[in-house]
Amino acid sequence: MKAELLVIGGGPGGYVAAIRAAQLGRDVTLIEQDRLGGVCLNEGCIPSKALIHAANLYHKIPELSQIGIATEGLRLEVERLRAWKEEVVTRLREGIAKLLSANGVRVVPGRAHFVSQGQVKVEGAEAETIEFDHCILASGSRPLEIPGLEFDHELVLDSTDALALEEVPQALLVIGGGYIGLELGTLYAKLGSKVTVVEMMNQLLPGTEPELVRPVERRLRELGVEVLLRAKAKGLRRGRSGAELVAEAPEGEKRLVAEKILQAVGRRPNTAGLGLERAGVELTEKGFIAVDGQFRTSNPRIFAIGDVAGPPMLAHKASHEGIIAAEAIAGLPSAAFKAVPAVIFTDPEIAYVGLGLSEAEAQARARKVLVGRFPFAALGRAAAMGEAEGFVKVIADGESKVVLGVEIVGPEASSLIAEAALAIEMGATLEDLARTVHPHPTLPEALMEAALAALHRPIHLLPRKGPGRGPS
Ligand code: NAI
Repeated sequence: MKAELLVIGGGPGGYVAAIRAAQLGRDVTLIEQDRLGGVCLNEGCIPSKALIHAANLYHKIPELSQIGIATEGLRLEVERLRAWKEEVVTRLREGIAKLLSANGVRVVPGRAHFVSQGQVKVEGAEAETIEFDHCILASGSRPLEIPGLEFDHELVLDSTDALALEEVPQALLVIGGGYIGLELGTLYAKLGSKVTVVEMMNQLLPGTEPELVRPVERRLRELGVEVLLRAKAKGLRRGRSGAELVAEAPEGEKRLVAEKILQAVGRRPNTAGLGLERAGVELTEKGFIAVDGQFRTSNPRIFAIGDVAGPPMLAHKASHEGIIAAEAIAGLPSAAFKAVPAVIFTDPEIAYVGLGLSEAEAQARARKVLVGRFPFAALGRAAAMGEAEGFVKVIADGESKVVLGVEIVGPEASSLIAEAALAIEMGATLEDLARTVHPHPTLPEALMEAALAALHRPIHLLPRKGPGRGPS
């Protein structure tokens, strides 16, 4: 069999690349070994957001009595919740199958590996060899395991197990205070588990601005989540009375009784078993596939996108890389985006986007920047929603006033960051953000106000006195 374009992997990288290539007139074959939609749709982004949505409601409803809505008889029906989450995922997966078919993409179930620079073998119901002109590899990533803490899917769970929601355990030990650990740890705490997070670094969400993390830490405390920092999980000890997690902490070895453990200590690219050597595809030192600005590998006929091509491992990054790769194969002069927003669905949500220069880094490099902060507590809509925690921070170049970054912690941060991403992609200045008419009363006004604050002329903040504080 022959394919003009072969896409390996049907996740948010691969299926988007396939659709874009089909739009550009290519004959496209997509190979998927499991389910269309990949980890993101089937056992990641979508089921987690469905469950987080449900857990937020379940947890919020008792508070409604404060605003005059009486609620009684509230209870959680885990089976129904699980079925609803599955319905959401199935509907979306069927949608992807329809989109691919309507775009003329041929979907082949099976596992592909390269047998030469221009051929793959697909191990499926029937083994098949496919010759390709071009290939886009979007094979994704899988969870890392700490030696001695391998997933047994009974005691030591991965995120897929945790999202299967077999039960709500009384106690859940979460190893890793990163994206997954905090999103799912918060979810289970809201459903009633006693959650303990074990994180080896000295802050939760290492690499995220500490001031964005603080409101999340406060909320975790309110939810009764115990956080152990500088505690490195090392292994398991199984005794007659049950299992204990062994962790190394500055004060010595800790043993934590474990009913269920969710291990979320990062992910690694799916490069093994693909026959990359036979295809002439090289890896980076860190084990990702080495690519150029259009996601071309060391074999110019093969492109690699998404998690397998390097961090950040985010679905939206994979999709955009897929579009660029498909366009590059069609001969279009596509180039990569400037910035990738990151969103963490904690409570409150955290989101940021930027050109890689935080306020602290700007100070360290003595680069003149303008920084404006606007708290949600000062925003009418946030008050009316009873969600006044958090702030928006805008960082701009001190001379040109071009927006360099936006950081948000607070209600709907995940949606608000899209305007910031557009601003950065368009090279917008503080004036552009400040002079764009934002509807009132809405949460995005916080972005406009933060830009005004960076220009020293916020409307809804008390004026600050002092040298250099005058409005511009
Ligand atoms: P992560 O890299 O976000 O966090 C892993 C955490 O585990 C780190 O804080 C690390 O210091 C800690 N850790 C590592 N070894 C440890 C040990 N022995 N003991 C204690 N702590 C240890 O990785 P995570 O949460 O597994 O997620 C994987 C990736 O999936 C994320 O980096 C992100 O790219 C993606 N993701 C994105 C989401 C989103 O966009 N909202 C949601 C979930 C995942």
